[in-house]
Amino acid sequence: MFSSRTNWPLAPNLLSQLLRERRELGLPTLDLTESNPTRCGFALDADDTLAPLHDPLALLYQPDPRGLRVAREAVAGYYVEHGVQLDPEQIFLTASTSEAYSFVFRLLANPGDKILAPQPSYPLFDFLGALNDVNVVPYPLAYNDGWQVDLQGLASRWDSRSRAVLVVHPNNPTGSYIQNRELIAMTEICLQHQGAIIADEVFSDYGFAADADRVVTHAQNTEVLTFTLSGLSKISALPQMKLAWIVVNGPADLRRQALARLEVIADTYLSVSAPVALATPRWLAQRGPIQSQILDRVQANLRQLDAMLTPELPLSRLKVEGGWYAILRVPSTRSDEDWAAELLTQTGVSLHPGHFYDFPSEGFLVLSLLPAPGAFADALGKVVSLISSQS
Ligand SMILES: Cc1ncc(COP(=O)(O)O)c(C=O)c1O
Repeated sequence: MFSSRTNWPLAPNLLSQLLRERRELGLPTLDLTESNPTRCGFALDADDTLAPLHDPLALLYQPDPRGLRVAREAVAGYYVEHGVQLDPEQIFLTASTSEAYSFVFRLLANPGDKILAPQPSYPLFDFLGALNDVNVVPYPLAYNDGWQVDLQGLASRWDSRSRAVLVVHPNNPTGSYIQNRELIAMTEICLQHQGAIIADEVFSDYGFAADADRVVTHAQNTEVLTFTLSGLSKISALPQMKLAWIVVNGPADLRRQALARLEVIADTYLSVSAPVALATPRWLAQRGPIQSQILDRVQANLRQLDAMLTPELPLSRLKVEGGWYAILRVPSTRSDEDWAAELLTQTGVSLHPGHFYDFPSEGFLVLSLLPAPGAFADALGKVVSLISSQS
């Protein structure tokens, strides 16, 4: 009856089960996985956010495969602020980054072709691959006092079915940006094999410190066909508005072909609504205050984390350059899932085991840096004391 691509194990995993039991018993949970910015107590002016949805132009249906030009011009303006000039014709609007991935996978890959994606990384890639009949093949990120792309590992995984390398800039959950030297090496690999780069930059505005060795944005790549994905879910902390985009860049001829083919894909869906597209220029223009609140929160929580993780403790945190997450290194005397389950049942604190993000070994827990500082410190105190007492 159903396609084999939907043969997922649908039974809830251990942690979901434990969370459900706690809810049923009315027990509170201290949620260190919360990364929905609309639930973390940030101040957002309701009128400023909702008024742009009342544009009378939204009464007109003006279908455009790329999405309304006024919104694409605003997206191009966002890149000008990052030092990059783009033609709005290089930009396609989508309802989410997930939809953008699907469009790009469909554009580049035949069934069974491969997209190389970082490991550890965002758990959705396997699902996006499966839904688009693409094999998402992991390439390693290595941790050595900071995360780097294992370039040899990447090169060795490339074969005749590989169509593109995916980078997340900065990566979720490692918080590591692509360095200029890494982009040069990836460009070489792509040129050699006629591959493309897919760059997810949803968190790129949330860097903690400037770094001249870091790629500013992949949207300016002209050597290799490059698809840069981003959107309002993180840039303006408005995931509920459902507006993302793809920037296409690369050598002129390839770029032209990619744009023409993407136009047909996007025309088949026409997925972005007129009110949302018309509101996008205002939502982008208003991003400053919410980005500052989030950056302040994330960095304050990181300082709190560092203050609590004194050197004699059996847990520490990995280096992070930006984004909304931190990674704890914990004793591998038990599995990450067992640590997470123990923390939930004994202390009510919920955090993610590393294997959710495909860490290649045990010993890692992932937490969100978005929760309110008081709740964050409270939950973290419980994590530190339980792990210390059981190691
Ligand atoms: C790396 C990465 N890309 C994309 C997204 C989601 O973007 P969207 O809401 O536009 O689908 C997330 C959400 O957490 C993410 O972590």
